[in-house]
Amino acid sequence: MSKPQVLITMKHVPEIAISLLRERFDVKICDSLIHASRTEILKEIPGKFAIFCNPSDKIDEELIKTAGPSLKVVGTMSVGYDHVDLTAMKKYGIRLGYTPDVLTETVAETTIGLLISTTRRFFEANHALKTGGWKNVTPTWMCGRGIRNSVVGIVGCGNIGTSIAKKLKTFEISQLLYTSRTEKPAVKELGGKMVTVDELVEQSDFIIISIALTEDTKFIINKERIAKMKSHAVLVNIGRGGLIDQDALIEALKKNKIGGAGLDVMTPEPLPLDSPLIKMNNVVLLPHIGSATIETRTEMAVIVSKNIIAVLDNTAMPNEVQF
Ligand code: DGY
Repeated sequence: MSKPQVLITMKHVPEIAISLLRERFDVKICDSLIHASRTEILKEIPGKFAIFCNPSDKIDEELIKTAGPSLKVVGTMSVGYDHVDLTAMKKYGIRLGYTPDVLTETVAETTIGLLISTTRRFFEANHALKTGGWKNVTPTWMCGRGIRNSVVGIVGCGNIGTSIAKKLKTFEISQLLYTSRTEKPAVKELGGKMVTVDELVEQSDFIIISIALTEDTKFIINKERIAKMKSHAVLVNIGRGGLIDQDALIEALKKNKIGGAGLDVMTPEPLPLDSPLIKMNNVVLLPHIGSATIETRTEMAVIVSKNIIAVLDNTAMPNEVQF
């Protein structure tokens, strides 16, 4: 009897995760590119039981209908699932597995790195060094703002936000602010104060966006809130590009209305090379690598496989999104 089929939309998924699937499925790995195009995915999806995907793959009604009734599970290799149309998933009775928790510490580490490299201008300094800009050093050359004694605000204090807060504690900041639906005892214990988003953007020297993208949080950082930020404020986004009104951010950065931005996520992804963000010295851009360590990505991939297998076995997934 032929095995059910899984489509993996990306290359170089750790072999351990693929082997797990191969024991139970016929595995098709999209092969035209490192990451499959929408066209390739739509061509390959008919008849599949599962799709092993990531946030670059839009999982919508068109894809689900193209797959047909065999499709039972979407396994996304991410904690975020804003790329998945939950209404369509529900309509067709498809389950969704994701990968929370395993990536928390890695994303929090990336955030701290992005925060420091943005405020201390590491990439700009590195570029200057490599292109002959390191000449007569004056005391004010390549200076940034320190994190010590500053007010840091975290928008969205889930697991990742809480881990960022713990790491920041060692930086001797003067005040930690955060937003959340409910007070977080662990963050309160660190001295964190829960405030509104407006209070946070007004009072913080560093603003870290670490919240899931939903209808409610789209453009949570909009033109009005950017206008409330301190003129030296540094904005760091490790959530999703859609959390920020990027045009308003570009405008503010161009006019030096805020100090800078460190973005691991942006709109669209990949960012076109003609985006004004690319030329800005006060912006550090990373290609959505928040969880990109070998260990974490391997664990994530294994969880995706286990989530998919659980649906075949009709058992509880290690990590299922309830909707
Ligand atoms: C996630 O897991 O949602 C990260 O953004 C990586 O894609």
